[in-house]
Amino acid sequence: MQTVTTPNISAELRQRLANAKRVLVLTGAGVSAESGVPTFRGGGNTATWKGLPFEVISSGTMLERNLPLVWEWFDYRRETLRSLKPNAAHEAIARWQERFAELTVVTQNIDGLHQRAGSRHVVELHGNIWRARCAVCRLSHEIPAAGTRPGACEECGNALRPDVVLFGEILPAGAFEFGAQRAAACEVCFVVGTSGLVYPAASLPEIAKAAGAFVCEVNPERTALSDRCDEVLTGKAGDILSAL
Ligand code: APR
Repeated sequence: MQTVTTPNISAELRQRLANAKRVLVLTGAGVSAESGVPTFRGGGNTATWKGLPFEVISSGTMLERNLPLVWEWFDYRRETLRSLKPNAAHEAIARWQERFAELTVVTQNIDGLHQRAGSRHVVELHGNIWRARCAVCRLSHEIPAAGTRPGACEECGNALRPDVVLFGEILPAGAFEFGAQRAAACEVCFVVGTSGLVYPAASLPEIAKAAGAFVCEVNPERTALSDRCDEVLTGKAGDILSAL
């Protein structure tokens, strides 16, 4: 039987949450780990696919060089996601929408699990694997959960590419700026399941901290951001967020 240790949540954090109106949550791959979604790093390993490190296959350079291979990689990831469900961490965050006057969920994840758990306004910094985008006119196309993805742009007929941010590419217009604005105004900022190695996403807790927010990390491991947090809750997101 798995023992769930009650996270050692400080009285200060509980007090700040009791008074908070504006809360921001930055999430990474670790928030989906308990749903069965593999993380990219953590545990000392980095993900590879067909012998290619994910930073290579998930890059703008590879997209230019070999779009079919990049699609194969995202088709494979979508296939692994199809049967997975949101976990207790996603559900706890979705419940916080009713608890705080202004909850901002900013995610680096492209899996759409926050939305499936009921989170209404999710800022997707790195796009979404359930969408394709025209490589020319940029029209976005939904990829159905069941069935095949669209072959070409319904508007201009040009090739479609995954609507995700690849390494070497810029973030969707406005997404980071909106997240930064909310980070600068929040009272409590949670950093959940991210190694804090990828920018500009990892700068959001720093913006929040600089603006006086209480920053709390939730992760089974120390990360590049731990030293800049006011509180570090060591453990799985599902256990800890459910206890907050
Ligand atoms: N609960 C909380 N955190 C967890 C859990 C869990 N159950 N399991 C693992 N983690 C932590 C790991 O310890 C690690 O620190 O989640 C983190 C995952 O880190 P990464 O794999 O580096 O993922 P992320 O930080 O989201 O990566 C950022 O890099 O690969 C690109 O675009 C991709 O969005 C991604 C970005």
